[in-house]
Amino acid sequence: MTVRLSPSILSADLAHLADDVAKVRSGGADFIHVDVMDGRFVPNLTYGAPVVAALRRATDAPLDCHLMVEHPEEYLGPFADAGATIVTIHPEATPHLERHLAEIRRRGMKAGAAINPATPLAAIEEVAAELDLLLVMTVNPGFGGQAFWEPALEKVRRARALLDARRSGAMLEVDGGVARDTIGRLAAAGADTFVSGHAVFSAADPAAEVRELRRLAEAGAAGRKA
Ligand code: DX5
Ligand code: ZN
Repeated sequence: MTVRLSPSILSADLAHLADDVAKVRSGGADFIHVDVMDGRFVPNLTYGAPVVAALRRATDAPLDCHLMVEHPEEYLGPFADAGATIVTIHPEATPHLERHLAEIRRRGMKAGAAINPATPLAAIEEVAAELDLLLVMTVNPGFGGQAFWEPALEKVRRARALLDARRSGAMLEVDGGVARDTIGRLAAAGADTFVSGHAVFSAADPAAEVRELRRLAEAGAAGRKA
């Protein structure tokens, strides 16, 4: 299993964003996770397509954009134009998930669906074959640095089984509370793509933290096969 690390800039120093991105990339970060919040779908407000465009100029890293917004369809064109690589939307935010996933792909990006802790996997089951990425939230979205939601481990196992049963090659991403004490267990449960904000950017050496998280994820994934 390929392990991918996607540090979230939610916990970076926005006044020195390019420096923080360069640090985690030097530690081997595969993606940069961009948490887009509209103050409506979640009770917090962050940034949108102009910041994605600025990141696109600052790094060649794939930009893993997580849209925690109402009316996600309104953002797809601007995000494609800004250079987003992956766009992940929430089924809780739209009755037209399938249509918007198709639109993301039509615009040349990878399409992801993200489900909140209280949302059953059934919300994405019918579109599993159309996903490039499934994001199982391991906290309720809105803020960085929250405590890991333990029941997510079992949900990740079921998500892995669902993707495997559909012979899906989609990435299985987890987001929220991913740190040294949780990442190995999440990898053992079948996650392969790991968002981490607070743990990476609050570390004295974010590059070293990315390397350590990858080591622990790979150890967890190896345990899964055994
Ligand atoms: C939560 C966001 C996450 C967040 C994770 O609303 O979707 O991406 O940055 O943060 P940590 O790793 O700090 O729990
Ligand atoms: Zn996120």
